[in-house]
Amino acid sequence: MKPDLSIDLAGIKMKNPVMNASGPFGCGWEYAQFIDLSKLGAIVVKSITLKEQRGNPPPRMCETASGILNSIGLQNKGVDRFVQEDLPYLRNYNVPIIVNVAGSTIDEYVAVCDRLNQVHGISGIELNISCPNVKKGGAIFGSSSRSASKVVTEVRRVTNLPLIVKLTPNVTDIVKIARSVEIAGADGVSLINTLLGMCIDVETFRPELASIIGGLSGPAIKPIAIRMVWQVAQAIDIPIIGMGGIASVKDAIEFFLAGATAIAIGTANLINPQITIEIIRGLEKFLEEKGFEAIWEIVGKVRID
Ligand SMILES: Cc1cc2nc3c(=O)[nH]c(=O)nc-3n(C[C@H](O)[C@H](O)[C@H](O)COP(=O)(O)O)c2cc1C
Repeated sequence: MKPDLSIDLAGIKMKNPVMNASGPFGCGWEYAQFIDLSKLGAIVVKSITLKEQRGNPPPRMCETASGILNSIGLQNKGVDRFVQEDLPYLRNYNVPIIVNVAGSTIDEYVAVCDRLNQVHGISGIELNISCPNVKKGGAIFGSSSRSASKVVTEVRRVTNLPLIVKLTPNVTDIVKIARSVEIAGADGVSLINTLLGMCIDVETFRPELASIIGGLSGPAIKPIAIRMVWQVAQAIDIPIIGMGGIASVKDAIEFFLAGATAIAIGTANLINPQITIEIIRGLEKFLEEKGFEAIWEIVGKVRID
């Protein structure tokens, strides 16, 4: 018998625990030419704000050793156009759709979630309180347990959808913030978003990004993400979506062993657009070879003796 990859993530029923991370995958349909989207455990949409946002001026991406630095700045078409133009298309795939929500004020987070709560076909919200690339809002909300729990409390009032809160690693104590959002009513947490970084062009003496500082993602951040998933898993009871540098089956397994119930893949899609599907197949093979019957049997099973 094939191993059971299905999970229940904060009430979201998924046939496997693999999804894309918000951002590099756009609104999902951009990848439909490369992979069968219906094979994913869930589709996670790039951050949506209340109104259309043009994002930061270019250059807003650059390559580093084992990763990329980006400062896209939440470019998106706004919630109304997302609901009209993208959602009907994504619904055809019969896969849970998780909408990542961003805002520059608490009222904006509330307004977007309120709007999403009124439409059909959305399985959950991922609340992005961790974007490092915007001046207002974003990571500022995720940087203290007080502001993180405030935004979660306010959003909780307007939505009954499963609420997953995406945390920033750019803090002293991520465990404290994870606990505060759990108490405020979150149903799950995603970790991690990007780490703050900077690159300088030695010919021009100028920063490579127009925004000077950006968010580092890709293999370079994986050990930090694993450490954070492991620490947070000891401290909270709600499920964790682990992400940060996953580029192989082995990387994904490390996240499960550290305590993630599901995983998301971001930057690696830019290098290999089939990576999500390859990892789903690889997980199945790994469990089969090791004699496990279900994915949950390895969640949090890192041995610390
Ligand atoms: C180009 C790019 C755009 C991103 N945009 C978003 C976004 O809109 N919302 C969000 O929550 N995270 C965004 N992220 C962060 C990713 O979802 C993910 O948390 C991070 O990149 C770590 O995973 P990775 O190393 O697999 O990419 C973005 C990352 C990249 C590289």
